[in-house]
Amino acid sequence: MKVEFYGHVRQYNNIKNEIDANIHEVIHSGQYVLGPMLKRFEGEFAAYSGAKHAVGVGNGTDAIWLALMALGIGPGDECITNANTFFATAEAIWIAGATAVLIDCDPKTKCIDPAKIEAAITPKTKVIIPVHLYGQCADMTAIRKIADKHKLLVIEDNAQGIGAHGDGFKIGQLSDATATSFIIQKNLGTFGDGGALITNNSTLDARVRQLRNHGSNARNVHSFGFNSRLDDIHAGILSAKLKHIDAWNDQRRAVAGRYTAGLKGAKNLTLPYEVPGGRHIYHLYVVETKDASKRDGFLKYLNDAGVDAKTHYSIAIHRQAGYPWGKQARIVGPLTNAEYNAAACISLPMFPELTNAEADFVIEKVLQWDKAQ
Ligand SMILES: Cc1ncc(COP(=O)(O)O)c(C=O)c1O
Repeated sequence: MKVEFYGHVRQYNNIKNEIDANIHEVIHSGQYVLGPMLKRFEGEFAAYSGAKHAVGVGNGTDAIWLALMALGIGPGDECITNANTFFATAEAIWIAGATAVLIDCDPKTKCIDPAKIEAAITPKTKVIIPVHLYGQCADMTAIRKIADKHKLLVIEDNAQGIGAHGDGFKIGQLSDATATSFIIQKNLGTFGDGGALITNNSTLDARVRQLRNHGSNARNVHSFGFNSRLDDIHAGILSAKLKHIDAWNDQRRAVAGRYTAGLKGAKNLTLPYEVPGGRHIYHLYVVETKDASKRDGFLKYLNDAGVDAKTHYSIAIHRQAGYPWGKQARIVGPLTNAEYNAAACISLPMFPELTNAEADFVIEKVLQWDKAQ
């Protein structure tokens, strides 16, 4: 047996008629950029998110830096995030011209550790950017409290957490804006790139709408801006998929439950931690080897056995070659947990259409490796 990491084609085949119908609707509308399908999807996504506004943009990275720029964040301003996130979180801060301040993560959730934030705050600090890493919410209640105390903005990087919620809070409820990615491998993914910003701030929404479209909100009228729009064909695909996202996330949770039950006896691994009262939607099911030096061997073992495991993310941002490339960056360390996570993480295959037989095969191979240690 071979177990793939992603199930994009299976998912397409399961709802082919719905996706095809929306794509045809767009093609026959004759409007492919900033057209009616984008408008429809933005309305649907705002309603799903419980937010006043959703603005579709070119990708999740753009959603973050467009929000930063629209909020007036730029050179001289500091944005705090965790060092163990996908590179784009920090990249977006740099694209906006601001300083990325990298701090450690919580050892259990791998999300930003709120207890480490205050030590990183200076008079230049303007924004905290928590990442709902792997599909589990950062502790937004604690983060909001710190932000209020120091009068900071909060932008959630929700590329990985669509459909998750925290213990007593919804995504978007305790922040100024929430950025998301619709790249194919996300829980809500299109067949290419896409992203969105959700917010209850009408001024921010209007500003991002203008910035994404060459600084224009009326034909021939421009101010400085960019080209970063969510195409209508992608919006149509996402509109079809949005109807299924909660069921798909339930299926991911079922796969995660099967993995966790099957692997609980593994002596050499730490399994994912779920915050009680929250909903982890398992964008990724990430285990850690207790001995970080065994990770690469474990990965090879699984890949050789037909299990397409991967790592997210095996090089923390501050450890990337050439860091920080002449950009402004500050580390408020130590980054012990982030560095351990980078060294020890392994993501097992995870997608809603994964069969029980495939999950059991993965469990069998992981346990075989564990026994051999
Ligand atoms: C945590 C995180 N932030 C930002 C991004 C950037 O999204 P995109 O690839 O759509 O630019 C991604 C995903 O790629 C991500 O996982």
